[in-house]
Amino acid sequence: MSKDIWLPWVQKLGDTESISSILLTDAFLDSPASINYHHAYPGGLAQHTMGVLGWAFCISKDICIDKKSLARVCLLHDVCKIGLYKKILKWRKDEQGKWESYSGYEHAKLDLPVGHGELSVIKCLQAGIKLTDEEILAIRWHMGAYDVSHDGMKSLGDACDKSLLVPILQSADLFDAHHPSTCIDLAAIVDSL
Ligand SMILES: [Fe+2]
Ligand SMILES: [Fe+2]
Repeated sequence: MSKDIWLPWVQKLGDTESISSILLTDAFLDSPASINYHHAYPGGLAQHTMGVLGWAFCISKDICIDKKSLARVCLLHDVCKIGLYKKILKWRKDEQGKWESYSGYEHAKLDLPVGHGELSVIKCLQAGIKLTDEEILAIRWHMGAYDVSHDGMKSLGDACDKSLLVPILQSADLFDAHHPSTCIDLAAIVDSL
């Protein structure tokens, strides 16, 4: 995905320099979003991020919410995945039963193994992005109940109570993982911010 597609977004959402230092990099633009679950191809992370953005604006069309903040959490929710997947050569059998090699991914060892949503928040803060409390909650809890620690259910519920960003980002992420969004007019959305 070309950097040009992201420029109007990073220029409108504040913290332009810090957000650019994460999103306008080859590491982000070339990364897959998973190994085999969804958007598991080079550029998949950027594609998924766009899809979440599209779904989130679709879901929140008639909801009174800070749309710039919503765009920020969509763009930043999965930055923990940058550098998470390492390219490797894998093997499989072709239709004739012969072994063939193909390019795939495996999990890299994390320098900071702190959890999925937490790592995205930390990477943003380390890059100098000034997240609001609501943005921190939305990014931390974007996996919803799929990413709950032993006594995290109460925090998840409290986070949903505190900010509408939390359930909207959760839903958009889930929608795009299962039904990749391709038909939402993102150019019109960014113009409206
Ligand atoms: Fe995620
Ligand atoms: Fe995601």
